[in-house]
Amino acid sequence: MRMLALYSIKGGVGKTASSVNLAAQAARAGNRVLLWDLDPQAATSFYLRTKPKVRGGVEKLVKGKADLDKVIRNTQVDNLDVLPAALASRDMDNLLAKRGNSHLRQILKPVRKDYDLVILDCPPSLSHLSENIFSSVDALLVPVVPTTLSMRTLEQLRDFLDEQELPCTFWPFITLADRRRKLHVEMIDEMQNGWPLMLSTVIPAASAVERMGLERAPLHAFAPRTTASRNYQALWNEISQRLQ
Ligand SMILES: Nc1ncnc2c1ncn2[C@@H]1O[C@H](COP(=O)(O)OP(=O)(O)O)[C@@H](O)[C@H]1O
Ligand SMILES: [Mg+2]
Repeated sequence: MRMLALYSIKGGVGKTASSVNLAAQAARAGNRVLLWDLDPQAATSFYLRTKPKVRGGVEKLVKGKADLDKVIRNTQVDNLDVLPAALASRDMDNLLAKRGNSHLRQILKPVRKDYDLVILDCPPSLSHLSENIFSSVDALLVPVVPTTLSMRTLEQLRDFLDEQELPCTFWPFITLADRRRKLHVEMIDEMQNGWPLMLSTVIPAASAVERMGLERAPLHAFAPRTTASRNYQALWNEISQRLQ
């Protein structure tokens, strides 16, 4: 069971859009995928038409006492299940403070044979939750908008992981890119040269992605021929090769 997290210190950079689309593409490629919505705002759960509710409560889940068969829900996408968020997911941080490394992975132990891949959609923070994410996953996928500020956030993340001696691999990728903007083109170039682990597929800023909130579905379900949808597929292929 491989684990990846869509993670950034910054909000509004496309973590949720990317987690839903990458999870759907991984499922289409034949993987049994679980998408875990860790953000109390529950946008991932919303996109996948799931009630924002953790059956039995978040505390039971963290203690390993929840019935995962009841907490995890099917989605309209074949091979894709979701572990929804709830407002109470904001307690996750405190609950995890008392737990050891990789506890998120521990929580999923009862279902580890049921999934090839788990994708975590994370809230934008540096907290106990994020430290537990760092120790649980095989790699972080970090969406970056091609602006100076996002580049700084990426450097901050790298410095934080170095300082805390957290051996967590992170693979940045560019999203919300607008190639008509000179600054974006320059930044994409600079980032792709400066960050050797940067994934090469660029996700464009596209109205189809915004429509996910209306359609409540991954891009492939309603706009499969758009560049954004194709690029999420290409991005997934790239990630899947790195996982092998
Ligand atoms: N590639 C994209 N093109 C256009 N809009 C996007 C794209 N990715 C995300 N968005 C929009 O930007 C906003 C923030 O995206 P979201 O995935 O929720 O970010 P995060 O989870 O990092 O906070 C949402 O309104 C979403 O629809
Ligand atoms: Mg989000």
